Amino acid sequence: NEIYLNGLGGVLPRFPMAFAEWEDRARSALPSSVWSYVSGGAGDERTQRANVAAFDRWGLVPRMFVGAAERDLSVDLFGMRLPSPVFMAPVGVVGLCAQDGHGDLATANAAARTGVPMIASTLSVDPMEQVAAAFGDTPGFFQLYTPTDRELAASLVHRAERAGYRGIVVTLDTWVTGWRPRDLAGANFPQLRGHCLANYTGDPVFRSRLARTPEEDPQAAVLLWTQLFGNPLTWDDLPWLRSLTDLPLIVKGICHPEDARRAKDGGVDGIYCSNHGGRQANGGLPALDVLPAVVDAADGLPVLFDSGIRSGADIVKAVALGATAVGVGRPYAYGLALGGVDGIVHVLRSLLAEADLIMAVDGYPTLADLTREALRRVG
Ligand code: FNR
Repeated sequence: NEIYLNGLGGVLPRFPMAFAEWEDRARSALPSSVWSYVSGGAGDERTQRANVAAFDRWGLVPRMFVGAAERDLSVDLFGMRLPSPVFMAPVGVVGLCAQDGHGDLATANAAARTGVPMIASTLSVDPMEQVAAAFGDTPGFFQLYTPTDRELAASLVHRAERAGYRGIVVTLDTWVTGWRPRDLAGANFPQLRGHCLANYTGDPVFRSRLARTPEEDPQAAVLLWTQLFGNPLTWDDLPWLRSLTDLPLIVKGICHPEDARRAKDGGVDGIYCSNHGGRQANGGLPALDVLPAVVDAADGLPVLFDSGIRSGADIVKAVALGATAVGVGRPYAYGLALGGVDGIVHVLRSLLAEADLIMAVDGYPTLADLTREALRRVG
């Protein structure tokens, strides 16, 4: 309504209104190496495209005479009441999408302005403490890439607790970086690495492992950091991860129902169904297609979902297929590229406004009304 009323008065929106245009604008705004890093995926990017296409196979059935004049998009997540089911997925090195390089802080500011929580990546330009300080009243989560060095892992988690994060999201699918031809061709990694180590170079345990401080010898810090990756976690590590914190523990990258069951048995508080936006492994199933079985296996535990959300309609469909909360990755990174904090806020508000309108027009006034019964397979 705000946009239509402004339009009647001759005031047009500052930013475009749909994903395809956010993407186009971001492509022109970003240096090509950053663009290929953010927009690219694994292999020939078939899984990345399939994530998006999967939403076309579902349609919402409109209901009339419902009187959905008021909608309630709020959701309870780990005892917190959130204004909507949407959150910002962790995007490492998102800082590079911001003109001033401080994209983590910009994202946190957008979280504060919208009430949409941010999951802050381990790989950030801005240290986690500064990011948390910018959240305002919006709860935030810390995403852990678990280093092999357990003391360092514990240090990162305990710093996140002290900084006021409200949950720890452990990403399981990225102990090694995916085969991403666009990144490999541009040899982006050395350039990106130098920009994502703030959480390490400021960490007392990490510093204690170095012969010289990161300030004296930045290269040594980068080299030590590269040695921290490459060891996959196994189920045997879950009790240790669980013992690190009393905060809600969420495991990211779960796509198989059996993994969801085992994670639940291992005491996690939430399952995060995602294939990393198709960035890690090509040739996999679209994340949306595995969501219903993961939800069933989670058996009442909250299920977070991402990978392929591009519109408000997609949010509605993911909720109807059982997601408790729905994450966006590239859409807000593009928002950041096209307009800083305002750009992210615009993207989030557009997605939410569309979801809200669909619920109004189609007669589903609350998230609880959005069940699998509300959807039909197309074709
Ligand atoms: C990511 N993602 C990611 N995930 C994670 O757990 N830690 C991280 O540091 C990153 N880094 C990252 C960088 C970039 C540039 C992108 C695009 C994505 C994955 C992210 O959390 C999420 O799973 C996907 O982005 C969701 O898919 P869409 O919304 O981008 O399709």
